[in-house]
Amino acid sequence: MLEQINKLRKKGQNELNALNSTDQLPEWYYRYLGRKGDLTSLLKQLGTLSSEERPAMGKVINEVKQELQESFELRQKTLRETNLSQQLGIDDLDVTLPGRPCTTGHLHLTTQTLRRIYKIFQEMGFQVYEAPEVESDEFNFQLLNIPEYHPARDMWDTFWVNDEVVLRTHTSPGQIWAMREYYPEPIRVILPGKCYRFEQITPRSEHQFFQVEGLAIGKNIRLTDLIGVMSEFAHKMYGVERKVRFRGSYFPFTEPSIEIDMSCSCGEEDGTESSGCRLCKYTGWLEVAGAGMVHPAVLRNGGYDPEEWSGFAFGMGVERPALLKHNIDDIRYFYGNDLRFLQQF
Ligand code: DAH
Repeated sequence: MLEQINKLRKKGQNELNALNSTDQLPEWYYRYLGRKGDLTSLLKQLGTLSSEERPAMGKVINEVKQELQESFELRQKTLRETNLSQQLGIDDLDVTLPGRPCTTGHLHLTTQTLRRIYKIFQEMGFQVYEAPEVESDEFNFQLLNIPEYHPARDMWDTFWVNDEVVLRTHTSPGQIWAMREYYPEPIRVILPGKCYRFEQITPRSEHQFFQVEGLAIGKNIRLTDLIGVMSEFAHKMYGVERKVRFRGSYFPFTEPSIEIDMSCSCGEEDGTESSGCRLCKYTGWLEVAGAGMVHPAVLRNGGYDPEEWSGFAFGMGVERPALLKHNIDDIRYFYGNDLRFLQQF
């Protein structure tokens, strides 16, 4: 009987392995493992054995039964998988397959930063005004008091579309657009947008970046208004514990011109090598914006009489503050479109 069992076991395994479609599985099952199958009939024959032989033989038969059962399940799984992959090769669509998960995205870090800036200025009564990204030499330079061949142009090297058209190097030309549109009303706008410069790309500078320009024009606007607005902005954007300082500077379109710095989060400011951090270059201060009182020539170019009107303007980067806030060490990530970076914010 043992011999018979072994034969059956081998035959069963061989036939199972030879099956090449799931359709053939039931037939095999009935033959070997079914109620009227070969193994069951062997079990039934146990009765003919002596009571000494019976338990040992019963055990062997059950072991073989178990073994064949396991092999069957394995074979069934493999055949089903082969079937499925064949099917997928033939049919265009299998509606029974689970769908691909739909992941939701979120706003780009730059957009998030822009919206925070909008909100803070909105509370101070500034509205968003958008101006063109592709500008004429006249608007990008001349009307902002930067004549042809003026050395100040070196600060804004750019991409030229032709002799007269450039990709704007800053959002400042938007000041002229806004003034010409709103004259003779007072103005309080911010002008966000993308700017371009012909620059070496480094961890700190890209050839495209965002700026937010601000412009306030009125009958009695003074430098102290600018200082008040920018202090309020710095505190709302970076926290009240930050200190703000104003330094004299030069821009052709403002007079006087200032630069606005904010104390660094490292809290050190004595400017020695042992104080400060890498971010603030060991000075304790970070540059936030350029600003000043709108130059009389620029007011005139916008249609406002400088005898009657005055105003302030400022311009700030958008990526750089975000970079500082989140301790990002390379500005190129902003345009790299790498999800591993973007998903962190
Ligand atoms: N346009 C300047 C730049 O890109 C920034 C700037 C400085 C804007 C002073 C202003 C300003 O409106 O008053 O470097």
